[in-house]
Amino acid sequence: MVAANSLKYNARLSVAPMMDWTDRHCRYLHRLMSRNTLLYTEMVTSPALVRGGALHLLKYHPSEHPVALQLGGSDPVELAEASGIGAEAGYDEVNLNVGCPSDRVQSGTFGAVLMKQPDLVAQCCARMIEASPVEVTVKCRIGVDDQDPETILPDFLERVSAVGVTRFSVHARKAWLQGLSPKENRDIPPLDYDLVYRMKERFPHLHLSINGGIQTLQEAQDHLARGLDGVMIGRAAYHNPLDVLGDADRLIYKDDHSISGDVVVHRMLPYIQSHLDEGGKLAQVTRHMLGLFAGKPGARMWRRVLSEGAHRPEAGTALVLEALSHVTDNQQAAGE
Ligand SMILES: Cc1cc2nc3c(=O)[nH]c(=O)nc-3n(C[C@H](O)[C@H](O)[C@H](O)COP(=O)(O)O)c2cc1C
Repeated sequence: MVAANSLKYNARLSVAPMMDWTDRHCRYLHRLMSRNTLLYTEMVTSPALVRGGALHLLKYHPSEHPVALQLGGSDPVELAEASGIGAEAGYDEVNLNVGCPSDRVQSGTFGAVLMKQPDLVAQCCARMIEASPVEVTVKCRIGVDDQDPETILPDFLERVSAVGVTRFSVHARKAWLQGLSPKENRDIPPLDYDLVYRMKERFPHLHLSINGGIQTLQEAQDHLARGLDGVMIGRAAYHNPLDVLGDADRLIYKDDHSISGDVVVHRMLPYIQSHLDEGGKLAQVTRHMLGLFAGKPGARMWRRVLSEGAHRPEAGTALVLEALSHVTDNQQAAGE
């Protein structure tokens, strides 16, 4: 039984790290919907952090906890330093990206290509653990290119856990490093959830989160009921946050908290206002809110008003309320 006040407990459900998507505004929004779900930053590369060019990416709101910083890199010394910087900034966990297949990332030997170098990943993690008072975790694939996941994934988990990593998120498909775009690499290589289940049987002491293609909270609950320790959801949580996160506290954490879209919007207003007061732009926050009413009456107008208006220099919280009025009107019209 995992203690309710531990990160392992929070990690029963997590929102995946997503570049350009899970920035601090997105995480603030997600945190309003679920107070327990573990949130991940976008990947920050360790060279950028260590050389000081990415320190602004470390900024977060105190309400975001528990929040994990994801790092990209393959130099143990640099990653150790970056982990220390992340822990110092107050992140609750530091996660190493061993799953991202993008070209830019491959060129610097980051991400999924490291599935081919488990000993280097272990070395990196060992140094990160030494340097960081907070937990170090790994997000990986089941393999890359012509690797046989059946043999390399257990070998990878064995070697990396030997240095003290006890929590992994596994995107349950290979990455093909040649010929597929990063986007295609999230859809085309087939998912193999059963392999992740077999890893859980083989490594019962490890905390394993399954990731890839999970669309609903019900699916997440099914994975947990079948014995996995955690479920990580990416795109569905971003595009449809209320359906994935709005009931997560109640259903996954037995915490009596749920929230409606209307209340989420009203709670975002002071946050948006202070962002604007600091010179920020409305669209930087509202772009993450477009999916809030996905599938609900008025969703189209909500999206339209925000996407067409939020870039205007004078746009402020009044536009958000205007967009919301379409949702509320439609709900009344539909008798909701
Ligand atoms: C826009 C976008 C950006 C992503 N950026 C990252 C990243 O920075 N680090 C990472 O480990 N994975 C990244 N991913 C992959 C996701 O974390 C996740 O593994 C993948 O989307 C599969 O989960 P899903 O089917 O629930 O979306 C990204 C995915 C998307 C859609």
